[in-house]
Parts: sequence; C-alpha cells; structure tokens
Amino acid sequence: MRDAAPKTIFLSDYTPYPWTVESVNLHFSLDPHATRVRSVIRFARNPAYAGDTPDTMFLHGEQVKLISAQIDGTAVDPEVTGEGLTCAVPAGSFTWEAEVEIDPANNTALEGLYMSNGMYCTQCEAEGFRKITFYPDRPDVMSVFTVTIDGPHPVLLSNGNPVKTGEHHAEWHDPWPKPAYLFALVAGDLVAHSDTFTTMNGRQVDLNLYVRPGDEGKCAFGMGALKASMTWDEQVYGREYDLDLFNIVAVDDFNMGAMENKGLNIFNSSAVLASPETSTDMNFERIEAIIAHEYFHNWTGNRITCRDWFQLCLKEGLTVYRDSQFTSDMRSAPVKRISDVIDLRGRQFAEDQGPLAHPVRPESFQEINNFYTATVYEKGAEVIGMLKTLVGEDAYYKAVELYFDRHDGDAATIEDWLKVFEDTTGRDLTQFKRWYSQAGTPRLSVEESFELDTLTLTFTQHTPPSAATPEPQPLVIPIAIGLIYPDGREALETKVLEMTKEVQSFRFTGLEDRPVASVLRGFSAPVVLTHDLSDADRMLLLSADTDPFNRWEAGNMLARTTMLAMIRDGAAPDPAFLNAIKGIALDESLDPAFRALMINWPGPAELANVLHEAGEVPDPEQLFTVGEQIRDAMAETFADAASDLYARHSVSGAYQPDAAQSGKRALSNVMLAFISRRSGTETAQAQFDSADNMTQQISALSQILRHGEDSTALDAFYQQWKDDRLVMDKWFGLQVSCAKPEDGADTARRLTDHPDFNHKNPNRFRAVFGALIGHHAAFHHKSGDAYTLLADWLITLDPLNPQTTARMCSAFQTWKRYDADRQARILAEVERILATPDLSRDTTEMLTRIKG
Ligand code: PHE
Ligand code: ZN
Repeated sequence: MRDAAPKTIFLSDYTPYPWTVESVNLHFSLDPHATRVRSVIRFARNPAYAGDTPDTMFLHGEQVKLISAQIDGTAVDPEVTGEGLTCAVPAGSFTWEAEVEIDPANNTALEGLYMSNGMYCTQCEAEGFRKITFYPDRPDVMSVFTVTIDGPHPVLLSNGNPVKTGEHHAEWHDPWPKPAYLFALVAGDLVAHSDTFTTMNGRQVDLNLYVRPGDEGKCAFGMGALKASMTWDEQVYGREYDLDLFNIVAVDDFNMGAMENKGLNIFNSSAVLASPETSTDMNFERIEAIIAHEYFHNWTGNRITCRDWFQLCLKEGLTVYRDSQFTSDMRSAPVKRISDVIDLRGRQFAEDQGPLAHPVRPESFQEINNFYTATVYEKGAEVIGMLKTLVGEDAYYKAVELYFDRHDGDAATIEDWLKVFEDTTGRDLTQFKRWYSQAGTPRLSVEESFELDTLTLTFTQHTPPSAATPEPQPLVIPIAIGLIYPDGREALETKVLEMTKEVQSFRFTGLEDRPVASVLRGFSAPVVLTHDLSDADRMLLLSADTDPFNRWEAGNMLARTTMLAMIRDGAAPDPAFLNAIKGIALDESLDPAFRALMINWPGPAELANVLHEAGEVPDPEQLFTVGEQIRDAMAETFADAASDLYARHSVSGAYQPDAAQSGKRALSNVMLAFISRRSGTETAQAQFDSADNMTQQISALSQILRHGEDSTALDAFYQQWKDDRLVMDKWFGLQVSCAKPEDGADTARRLTDHPDFNHKNPNRFRAVFGALIGHHAAFHHKSGDAYTLLADWLITLDPLNPQTTARMCSAFQTWKRYDADRQARILAEVERILATPDLSRDTTEMLTRIKG
C-alpha cells in the first residue's frame, strides 16, 4: 500500500548506515510466479556510524513475501511494512538469514527480478534490489556477493567470476565489494557471441554478448565497440578491466538504455543489437557510445560508486563525459560536439528553464528514478568539461588519477571529486561548485568596444531564479574565445577567459584592425549566449572561423534569425545566406557529416523556446509552416546541385557504419529530401528498392511517406521486417513522425490498435509516443487530441510501469510556453492523470512539479 503523503528525502539528512555488510550469499530458485530467494548476510557494526548502534535494524523490501527469517540461526519475527522490515538485532556482528518469495512473471515495472520473453533478468538501479530480497538497499553499503542459481535454463549468469556453471545450476562470486544496485542475474535460453581481450598487463578477459537465438548476427559491432572501449580506457585513463569475464546481455523489455552491473551489463536490445540491414548509422553510433558508457562505469561508478543518490552525477556526469571523449576520438570531434550541443539545448535547456529545473546535484527528491535526467547526465558532463578547460588537460588527468587512487572502493561524493582537483592544482573550487548546486541555465551577454588597437569585451552573467534556486550567485564561466580579422585571418588563437564576477571585462591589445570575436568556442560553458553580431560578422565566422563549433554556430544563429524574421514579419529568407550554406555543402574540403549538420535548420522546439525567452507566444502551426517554407527554399537553392551531390555522396562498396561512410549517407539523404520535395518520390523509391542497409532504406521510406501518395512502400517494409522487433519500432515511429500535424494524434491512435503494438514493451510504447511528442506541431495541435491521447495512455501504463510513465510526463514540461488555450488543455490532462486513483509516486511527483 502506498503512503498518503509522499516522503521527501534530503541530501542534508544523510547519515551512514549503522552496519557494514561483510558478505552476502544469495540463492535463487527460479520460478515464474514463485521464485525463492534465500539470503545469508553478515552484518558488523559500522565504525563510521556516529553514536550507539541501534538495537533494531531496518532492511528495505518491497513486494517480497517473507517466508522465514533468522538471526544467528534463531528464528525471528520482524515487523514488515510495504517498505521493509524492522527487526531487533544483537549488539555486535550477526548473521541474517531469510527466505522470500517473489513473482517475476507479474513484474511489469521492469524493476527488480522480472521476465522478458521467457528470460529472467534484473534491474536494480536505483532502488530495485529491495524488490528481490530484504536488504539495506543504499549505495554506501558495499559488500562481496556470492550467488547460486537453480533454474531450468541453459544460461545462468550473475556478477563476477563463475565458480561453477552448468545447466540448471550455477555459482558466481564477485570479489569486488559493490552496492546492491549493481547486482544482476540473468537466466534464459541464450546464445553467446564470444571473444577475448588481453589487458595492458597481459591478463586475458573472456567477453560474451548474450542474445536470444536468432539475434547472433547482430552482435559483432557491439563486441567490437566493447573491445575498442577497453583499449581506450587503458590508453586514455590508464584503467584496466578487473575480472576474468565481461558479459553483456540484450533484453527486449528495459526501461532505459543499459545498465552497468558489475561484470554483467544488461542492455536494452536497441542499445546493443546492430546489423547493417536493420540498424541506421545513428543506431550504430549510439550503440558504440552506450557500450563505452557502460564499460567506463566499471571504474567511474562501480570501483568508485556514489555515497547516496544525490551524488548521481558523480558517476553519470563523469561517465557521459568519458563516453563523449571516446566518441570524439573514434569519429569526428567537431561533429560530436555539435550534435551534443544540439541535444543539450533541446533537452537539458528545456528542463533547466522549466518547472522541472533542478541542480546537477539535486538536494531533495521523492522518487530517485525521476532524477535520471538530462541535467544530471548532460549538464553533469558539461561541468566536467568546464573543469577540464579551467585546469588544463594535464592537471585534469592528474586529478582524475588521484581520484582513482584515493577513492578506489569508496562510495564517494562531489566534495571528494572536487577535492582531488583542488589538491592537484591548488585552486579553490568553492565558487565553481555552484555549478553543482544551482539550477537554471545561465545567460551570458557580451558587449564589445574597439579603440585604437584595443578590443574590450564586457561580459555579464545572470542566472534566472527558479523554485529550485531562488537566489543564484555568479558562476565561474570558462569562455573560450578567438578573434578573426575581417579579411579572414586569425587575430587571436583560442584563449580561455575565466569569468567569476557578474560583470567582467577583458582587453585585447595590439590589434591591426577591428576583429570579429568568436565567443564561447567549442561551447565552452552550458549557457545561453547573447552576442549582437551583425549578419555580416556572422557570415565572416561562418566562412572563416577556425573553431568548427563556432563556425556551425554562426550558421545556426543566422538560420535562427532568418526563421524568427519569417515568423515575426513574414520576411523571406535571405538568398545570400541560403547560398552561403549551399557553398559549405558543396565544399569538398569539409567533412560530409559536418556539411550535413550545417544544412540542418533549427527545429520547432528550439524556436518555440527562443520565442518564449523573448516574451512571445509560439504558434506551433506557424512554426511548422515556416519550417516547410525553409525546406522549400532550401530545395530551390539546391535545385541545380542536389542530384549531383546526392550521386557523388552515395556510398559504393560494402556498408561500414564508420564516420566517413555515415557522413556521406547523411549528406546524400539531406539531398534526397530536397529532391523529393521538388520532384517527387522517384529517386526515393529507387533508393528504397535498392537499399542494402537500413539507413538508406528508412530515409527513402520517410521521403515516400512525406511526399508520396500510397502506402505500398510502407506495407512492403512491414512485410519485410514484421518479425524484427527493433525494425518494427522504427516502422511504428516513422509513421507518426511523418504524419501531417493534423493527423499525428490519429496516426498514433491507429497504431496503438495495431496487433503489434504492446504498451508493456517500453521500446514499442516510446516508438509511438516518443515520436508523437517529438513531432512538435502534431503534439501541440490546437485540437488538443495529442495531449488527450498521451494522457490516456499514461493513465493506462502507470500501474504497470511507473518509471516509463513518469519519464514520458516530461512532454508536458514546456506548457508555459504556449497560449492560454493550449495551457488549459495541457493542465486539464495533467489534472486528469493526477486524479487517477493509486497513481504511482513517480508520476505523481513529476506532474506535481510540472504544474509548478
Ligand atoms: N546507470 C544507467 C546508465 O547510465 C542508467 C540506468 C538507470 C539504467 C536506472 C537503468 C535504471 O548507464
Ligand atoms: Zn551511466
């Protein structure tokens, strides 16, 4: 039963657990509806616990039926509630033994032990282990686990190294102390794609990627990415893998992307399975990044974990930062940076500027699952990037080395993390720490003045107050800048200014001429920059900036200005700018992937945010129309070039998901969109018919859906791929994304009636509703139908899967941007969901915060 009043947990209330856990033995007898878990847990007094050890102990436990319990061999009768049990305990060390029963087959929340297509698997982060057995389920309680499993399956896996493995029985021992959230168990009829890796010290590690029979052909890429990650972490961070075995398992039903359980990573199948025929270039890139991310957690997360869940960014921000470095090294660093900033502005800025704003290290929560956010992950990674920019590359790696040395085996805090930087560099990071404690996107503006040979840049910073941070203080902002002379020569190479005050000036002397300032190069801080450059100055940066990010940014700002002028006064786009973009697209000296990004215009969600920031009310239909007009104008501009560019960048030879080939496909597929818009779908149809890979097939299909007349290709695609779950997710999502705004909700509704729709599968649910939410004009159609449809389905899903339901609620977080009618419609749906009896704690917290 749920509590009437939700409990809020505060960072400031942290106290250590009174006991340490010296060892944990778990025995599982698997059964779909009646799995038995026997636990033997050695408790000892925790010397770090201030005060007398209590004479009763609390263990978390939810949805577990206690069969029997003993302390030191004597039966005990603890008091059990919906949240755990309380039991009298002896003064010194003692052994707790218990047997519980759980029901994995009915576990639709996908938290704890659950079943997916007949296979057993677990998800314990953040607080899922308490659904497996009674335990102090908090990350600062670390222990050595030994696990035995009896079950009718050929493959029985847990963390660490195998002691005994056989059919129907296995024993596992993990020598590395870990918190319960890193526990994992898998049992199923699985096949392994195997390989080995030899570490920097010559140790051989067995690698397995376990998949369902039939998916063997989709493992090779993930395995390659794993080995590349292992090598990279040795070379760049000096981190060696620490077990004889590393297993990855793919599951179809999973709430998130993947999970870093010690030695037994569990992946959403969409985040690991790949083949050229079924996966797009973007899928491959995402899989490579997620494999790296989870692998990198072995050190940043597992060897050093978090003291409490408020410190989540300690492992996530750092690990996202590390995986972004990896992707930059494996592919194109500028392209990765630009893509990350687009994503940051799209998701994190929206969060940080709305009712869900919270600091990178939150100070309170009701449901921790609601804090696996873009702010904790992506802004958390930006904060690490800023730290590196401020202290420099050498000091960064020295400090991180010290972090590994000093805190290996610890459950650490942000204070610990910052201290290694202070100790390495002698810097005082007190002010920098505000990046962890203050919510809100800082606004940074710059004024220029030029006299004789001196340019003065005056910066002003301001973070808007929010409920989470009513009185923001000035931050330390690293501002990377360069100067470009009007003739295109570089007047100053990249230099990092360190801003600490609210208003601060920097002088540059000895200049020959008034230069154009290229400010915030590489997006050196996660802020909204206001820099009133003339269009001519932006054109200069667009053509001559040596910083690829700011080159893109100059184009992006011009594009934004163009679209805003179209929205505000119906102005036509400036042909000179369109032609400048065309020039870049045709510039064969540039990376095709970069060129494809340069042709990309700001989307409606970004424009809606910009208008809202300017105190205007965005009209989603108008934003859609302007987007169409821009695409028409671009198609016209490229009329004489599109076919040639398309042909020149079509890839011949065997498909490779690497940066070079995927960049070409990205560029040629932008051209395909222009061609289809002007001349119909003949070229797209030809590409669809001849495609030997999913990138080509699906981009052709999307043009056919947008510009074609009948559903032949869509049906053919269905017939070809109906047995492939991941491709069918694309089939579902694409129809919604390509729908006309007024048809979006109906299309989604129709798809929920399709026999292959299954709302219990998070991937399929997200395929339809993620696409609907992502289709700005459809989601915000004035009828309000999409709001209602989403609310209906959130109400349906909440009792089954609160976590996925709550995450989807963030679709409503931008409600304040829109007109009174849309606001009222959204709020009515929010209230309707909130009025649902027994609504989960997850969804209740999200919607209550969104209402503000
Ligand atoms: N810790 C996982 C990651 O970032 C994410 C995750 C959180 C997965 C909670 C499942 C549940 O890699
Ligand atoms: Zn992570």
